[in-house]
Amino acid sequence: MPLPIPDLRPFFQTYEDLGDGPLNWPEFFGNTRPVEVEIGTGRGMFLVNAGETHPETNFVGMEIEYTEGRHAAKRLQRRGLPNVRILGGDARIGIPRYITSTSVAAVHVYFPDPWWKRRHHARRIFNDWFVAEASRILISGGILHAWTDVEEYFQVMVATVAANPDFLPLPPPEERPAEHDMDYHTSFERKKRKAGLPIYRARWERKAR
Ligand SMILES: C[S@@+](CC[C@H](N)C(=O)[O-])C[C@H]1O[C@@H](n2cnc3c(N)ncnc32)[C@H](O)[C@@H]1O
Repeated sequence: MPLPIPDLRPFFQTYEDLGDGPLNWPEFFGNTRPVEVEIGTGRGMFLVNAGETHPETNFVGMEIEYTEGRHAAKRLQRRGLPNVRILGGDARIGIPRYITSTSVAAVHVYFPDPWWKRRHHARRIFNDWFVAEASRILISGGILHAWTDVEEYFQVMVATVAANPDFLPLPPPEERPAEHDMDYHTSFERKKRKAGLPIYRARWERKAR
């Protein structure tokens, strides 16, 4: 018999748990601290580290694969992190449904699925629609962060943001040598750097409205 799925709420909540939306962050987190969103959290390395090192900020992860989101949520639950939550579901549905305009201080996208085959490029998350949504939900001065190891996708990201008049490019963060085996931004960054691949990083500021 399969093991029962543990209840990881409030760390992991599906769209079914959340209902219609939109979410009101002060109600959702019980405080008025700034909120940052990560799209495609995977196993949650970024969220766990960011949540621990920045208790003054709330973090929301959006992850379509429940198994990955639940894995991340178990780590949050073990640490009892009150400022990090994962929403299980497709961000293409969740962003418009749950995130109100001008409500987040940063949007993070790390190593989004590249969908290598040209005929599958339409499935990529980082497109004109996504950048318009990032612009809608970011506060003025908010930051959009994107990293990938796929140079061609990176060029598409840069061109896509450049085509949106709401963003100003910022200098990218510099790479620094890892001080220990888990000293990476995300699991994918760790995997790709250990394989010797270059990482492409960019960030942009949401212009004042
Ligand atoms: C290549 S992994 C990178 C995971 C993590 N960001 C990292 O750097 O280690 C991409 C992640 O995005 C998730 N993902 C893909 N499409 C998504 C969508 N539409 N909404 C939410 N998550 C998505 C995948 O399930 C996967 O966990």
